[in-house]
Formats: sequence, structure tokens, C-alpha cells
Amino acid sequence: MLEIKPLAFDSLGVRSMATFISTPDINIIIDPSASLAPLRYGLPPHELEVRALHNSIEVIKNFISFSDVIVITHYHYDHHDPGKLIPLELLTSKELLVKDPVNMINVSQRIRASKFLKGVKEVGADIKIADGREFKYGKTLITISKPQQHGNNDKLGYVLMVSIRYEGYSIIFSSDIEGFLNDYSMKFIEGADVAIIDGPPTYLINNAYSEDEIRACIENLAILSKKVGKLVIDHHMLRDLNYRNIFNIIKDLSGVNVITAAEFLGLEPNLLEARRRELYKNSSQSKT
Ligand SMILES: [Fe+2]
Ligand SMILES: [Fe+2]
Repeated sequence: MLEIKPLAFDSLGVRSMATFISTPDINIIIDPSASLAPLRYGLPPHELEVRALHNSIEVIKNFISFSDVIVITHYHYDHHDPGKLIPLELLTSKELLVKDPVNMINVSQRIRASKFLKGVKEVGADIKIADGREFKYGKTLITISKPQQHGNNDKLGYVLMVSIRYEGYSIIFSSDIEGFLNDYSMKFIEGADVAIIDGPPTYLINNAYSEDEIRACIENLAILSKKVGKLVIDHHMLRDLNYRNIFNIIKDLSGVNVITAAEFLGLEPNLLEARRRELYKNSSQSKT
């Protein structure tokens, strides 16, 4: 009844959560963009990552062309593109449901939002501030959450979660809450048939987050896994080579198998950023 297609994700080799959802009423894309970590392990993106980014952008551009509604959950470059890789003209006459560019936003995102929205206005997109609002298209209901912290504090600003419901079937997209589930987000997500969540950034443990904070996230994800039909965990968590161990901990706690976006598509996860060191090592060996 509903088609869900993860277009670009960390498990598909790029930083992104771009997702296409089709209902009998409308075609929707959430966060049509993708990017690469400028530096990981002190190394710039590997050639394979650059190729994966190029492919992802081509896929996203194609899906934008037959989408009616585009949701922008916040203004980080892996979630919106200011016209660098994706021409803004592709958004002409599309309906854009966007994060409020002025309220509940940090300074860097406010600057990026104003630039992006000025550009999309010029090409004739129909912009709607979406925070905490509902949008109805025939029998399809899009519910946008109140702004949620990007992680466990507001340094990185706020994001919007997205619910798409059609005749009792629902899909939830968490955006970058970084796996930090509070009462509000837990309630927003539970009951979904499919929930697409960004897990905690375990690769930043003891750097941005403490072990206790990450453990609390994992326990909450285990609780959530029992409250939704299918739980897809990707994005930040797939930057950790050991993500599979965490999936196993969730399974031990809840008895539920969680999957990556790649596995949702029936593909093997293709981690590139997390394997960057290894990719460089392999390519230097193949040259000798
Ligand atoms: Fe973000
Ligand atoms: Fe992100």
C-alpha cells in the first residue's frame, strides 16, 4: 500500500537519511541530500566514497523529479542541499515542508536556512513552515513533530520528526535525534509499522557522549523495538564498525531484530566512512 525506499544512507555508503515514500495520494521525499565526512581518522573521503556520493545524488535527483512533497527536517548538509550538488530548479513548484528557520534553531543552521529558503523561493517552491503541524493530502496524513534536540543538548540545534499515515498504516522518520528518545519522541514513534531512526553516535563515545548516555539510548531503542512493527536503525550508528554488536545488545534486551536501511532494501550494508582507513590501506596495497 505504501512504498518506502531508502535512497541514501550511511549503510549505503554516504552520510544521509534520504527516504522516498509513496502513498496512493502523493510522493514524498524526506531530507533529499547526502554528504561525506570531510575528515575521518584524519583522512579525507576515499575515492569509493566520492563515487557513492555521486551515485546517491543522481538517485535523489531522479526521485525528486517525481515527488510532490519534500520535507526538510533541519539544515545540515546531509539533510538539505543548498544547490551545490542538487540544482534548486528541481524544487520548482514542489511543496516544501520545512523546519522553522527562525525559531528553535542554532546560529549556523539559521544562516544556512535563510540562504536555502531564499534560493528555493526564487525558483518558485511552495514553502510551508512545518514544526508541530499536520498536512492532509486525500487519505494521507503527514504529521510533523515539535522541534526535538539534535542529540542530548541543543548545541547542534533542533530537528523535526515525520509521521506519514495512510489508512492506519504509518511510517515514522526520526531524523537526527541521535538515538536520544525522550517521552515525547517515544510516544511519537510507538505504534508505527516502520520506524526509521538514527542510532546514537557510538563512534563518538567518550568524546561527545559518555558511556552511560549511550547505554541509556540503547536501552530505550530496545524498548522502542517492541513498540513498532519494524525498526530500522542507521545514520550515526552506522559510522561505527561495531554497530552489529549494538544491534545484538538490542536483540538480547528485547528479543527483536533491528535492521539497517540497506537490509531493509535486501542489500548487505556497505559501510564506507567507518572503513575509510581500511579503504586507503587496500588501495595503497593494490598499487604496490
Ligand atoms: Fe544533523
Ligand atoms: Fe544527519
